[in-house]
Amino acid sequence: MRLHTLLCLALPVVSAIPTADNSQAAFFYRGHDLSSLLTLEEGGATYKDTERNNETRPAEAILGDGGMNSVRLRIWVNPVGGTNGLEYTLDLAKRFQSEGYKIYLDFHFSDSWADPNKQPPPAAWPTTLEPLAATLRTYVKDTLVSFKEAGITLDIVALGNEIRHGILWPLGYADVDVEPWPKTVANFSNLAYLWKSARAGVDDAIYAGVPKPQVMIHIDDGWNLTLQQRWFGAMIENGVPTTAWDVFGFSFYPFYGTAATFDNLRTTLNTLALEYRKPLQVVETDYPAICNGEYNPIPESSEPEIPYSVPGQLEWTEDVISIVKQVPFGLGQGVHYWEPAWLNNTSLGSDCNDAILFDADYSNWPQTIGYSRKSVNLFK
Ligand SMILES: *[C@@H]1O[C@H](CO)[C@@H](O)[C@H](O)[C@H]1NC(C)=O
Ligand SMILES: *[C@@H]1O[C@H](CO)[C@@H](O)[C@H](O)[C@H]1NC(C)=O
Ligand SMILES: *[C@@H]1O[C@H](CO)[C@@H](O)[C@H](O)[C@H]1NC(C)=O
Ligand SMILES: *[C@@H]1O[C@H](CO)[C@@H](O)[C@H](O)[C@H]1NC(C)=O
Ligand SMILES: *[C@@H]1O[C@H](CO)[C@@H](O)[C@H](O)[C@H]1NC(C)=O
Repeated sequence: MRLHTLLCLALPVVSAIPTADNSQAAFFYRGHDLSSLLTLEEGGATYKDTERNNETRPAEAILGDGGMNSVRLRIWVNPVGGTNGLEYTLDLAKRFQSEGYKIYLDFHFSDSWADPNKQPPPAAWPTTLEPLAATLRTYVKDTLVSFKEAGITLDIVALGNEIRHGILWPLGYADVDVEPWPKTVANFSNLAYLWKSARAGVDDAIYAGVPKPQVMIHIDDGWNLTLQQRWFGAMIENGVPTTAWDVFGFSFYPFYGTAATFDNLRTTLNTLALEYRKPLQVVETDYPAICNGEYNPIPESSEPEIPYSVPGQLEWTEDVISIVKQVPFGLGQGVHYWEPAWLNNTSLGSDCNDAILFDADYSNWPQTIGYSRKSVNLFK
């Protein structure tokens, strides 16, 4: 009785001290997604450092001088040609780890791209819920064990890529916009079940000796508080404990809608930090260096006073970093730029021409040269 009273009295004091996550947040991730780099190099692409008289250097050396300390790598289950598959990703992870970069693994749970518009399950996986969940769990475990056996320590593991609409469609489809709102919660039961299976695969790997990575949930539109609150609320309602994930990951792009403002990003991150007391990161962002309407109508930037230009790339990223760093309790944990070295896919999914951090010279196609822009220094 006495002990119980003491504990009750002690509790508010303990929970009022927001130090638990500060130690984790002390390291600030300044990362680039370099998932395509090996394919490019195998096709003959090279990178030149314009700050060193055009010396040919690996892309990561140039980006490392520009402040990068972490590399994000996506992983696909059984991709055509092996690109972004296990062996491919192990090769890149070994290389970047040996150079001192933290490694962040981004599971897509697919043989190719997964995002809010598509989550195609691996062709060889079962198509009913329980066998699918079991396969997912084993796949996560086996993959993490493979990294451990290759000598790679994973700092962050994201279970799914931009999973606003779930994973492994159609079974794992979910939508927060099914009205009225409480109905939506029911729509999350398969997703919660599948996600918990993936999470159990992480525990299985830890049991098999893998050091515990930070487990991330990654959603797009990091500026939309309604989306994030509904989404995470629905997962919790469906039995995913808040202890199941360690860090929030959000995408934040300027050209998919004018509501992606800095104000909205700040409000969303700060509110979630107060509600969940967990670290948060912006794990995908970029800003066009060139957007001239040559191929598509020019999309309006969500921060229109920032020009589509190399200085604009620097300004946008600097502002995003500053918003993340100002999240309460030091919970803003990092920023990752998406695919800055993708010389032959420079639009990076936007309607603009070019959002990468190198000037691509195609004059000797298919041999491509990337000349570093000033924006390679965006993490300096
Ligand atoms: C880019 O180049 C690589 C290497 O030549 C090639 O494998 C890949 O298909 C190309 N990608 C695009 C988007 O053109
Ligand atoms: C580096 O190469 C670019 C593109 O060819 C050229 O414009 C620039 O003058 C070169 N810089 C040096 C220092 O050679
Ligand atoms: C969720 O709702 C969508 C839209 O109404 C529907 O297509 C889908 O089948 C539902 N999913 C589940 C798992 O109930
Ligand atoms: C924000 O997300 C909610 C929930 O998905 C959606 O209904 C709303 O349209 C989004 N806001 C904007 C401006 O797109
Ligand atoms: C180029 O990148 C976009 C994503 O931004 C992707 O959808 C597309 O498939 C890529 N192109 C190739 C050929 O890989």
